[in-house]
Amino acid sequence: MLDKDIEKVLVTQEEIFQIAKDMGKKLSKDYKDKFPLVIGLLKGCVPFMGYLLTEMDIHLEVGFMDVSSYHGGIESVGDVQILKDLGIPVHDRHIIITEDIVDTGKTIKVIKDLLLYRGAKSVIVATLLDKPEGRVVQLVPEYIGTTIPKEFVVGFGLDYDEKYRNLPYVGVLKPEIYNK
Ligand code: PRP
Repeated sequence: MLDKDIEKVLVTQEEIFQIAKDMGKKLSKDYKDKFPLVIGLLKGCVPFMGYLLTEMDIHLEVGFMDVSSYHGGIESVGDVQILKDLGIPVHDRHIIITEDIVDTGKTIKVIKDLLLYRGAKSVIVATLLDKPEGRVVQLVPEYIGTTIPKEFVVGFGLDYDEKYRNLPYVGVLKPEIYNK
């Protein structure tokens, strides 16, 4: 039913599973004995973070922040709002922020700076998708699943108007959906 609104598939479910496996393995090696705090930025992080966590074979703590920068349209307005804060002290912690996508980079920049200001020992970003052509602030995610072109994508956590987050792959929406 959702498939009919998709123009093309950019990252298949199998590719995403493999990305989660590889990234989880690498993070497990890099964060062994560091008891990292893995923070998901709601809501887009949910599916990828879920798979990534189960591929991490180390002790870790999980936390969430609800952060919003897109407001229903297809462009980020860059106004980052914290709708729900973390509620876990970050002082001296090693933090891994998990994301579905890094686009302009503004969301990550704001959250990273905030966590460092609060005394985190290190803050890195593990993202399923990177869209470097969208960047307006200087930021390179430390762990990238795959790089995508400057297209508006939905699925696997990414929404258009709060819809399509449950699509089991990442795809490009047919323009007539958002031009309606
Ligand atoms: C999306 C996405 C990232 C952010 C990336 O979240 O999940 O958090 O935008 O964009 P940026 O690099 O341009 O800042 P959004 O604000 O749409 O909230 P959501 O996760 O609830 O969909």
